Amino acid sequence: MRCCKGLLIAALLVPAGFVHGETDVPSGAASLSNPYTGDANAAVAGEKLFASMNCDGCHGGGALGFTAPSLADGRWRFGGDDGAVFHSIFHGRPHGMPAYGAILPADAVWMLVTYVTTRPVPREVPTAAWQATP
Ligand code: HEC
Repeated sequence: MRCCKGLLIAALLVPAGFVHGETDVPSGAASLSNPYTGDANAAVAGEKLFASMNCDGCHGGGALGFTAPSLADGRWRFGGDDGAVFHSIFHGRPHGMPAYGAILPADAVWMLVTYVTTRPVPREVPTAAWQATP
């Protein structure tokens, strides 16, 4: 058994999920279906997280827009369905949106998704339409 000692140790150090080809994407993200759809309490919890995680520091109070775009004007650069919004928060986006997947559980991200996607869109949107830059 002398030959295989190192191999055995290596096998013990490799996390079980890796061996089975699993990734660390939480189950909620894999299906991309919001477990809190229609849950008003989750939306309120998401609103609190939006302030406590300092989302409003960039997106403004009420997610109305500040140095980062409004999340309450019905316009979405990366898609406004729950799965796309989850992706934006969990993985981040290229022009300055940090990834929160490493610091927030998927559950909390879904609460944020529930909050930002259930904001009533104002009839008159004061911000200019966003245009893609190359
Ligand atoms: C450091 C500033 C900053 C912080 C903090 C921040 N964001 Fe963002 N966010 C941005 C920017 C800038 C963009 C636009 C990214 C782009 O266009 O690539 C963005 C994009 C987004 C989008 C995609 C919007 C769309 O039009 O598709 C969502 C959703 C979002 N942020 C939610 C959040 C949430 C929720 C939090 C808190 C957990 C948060 N952001 C914290 C800067 C920030």
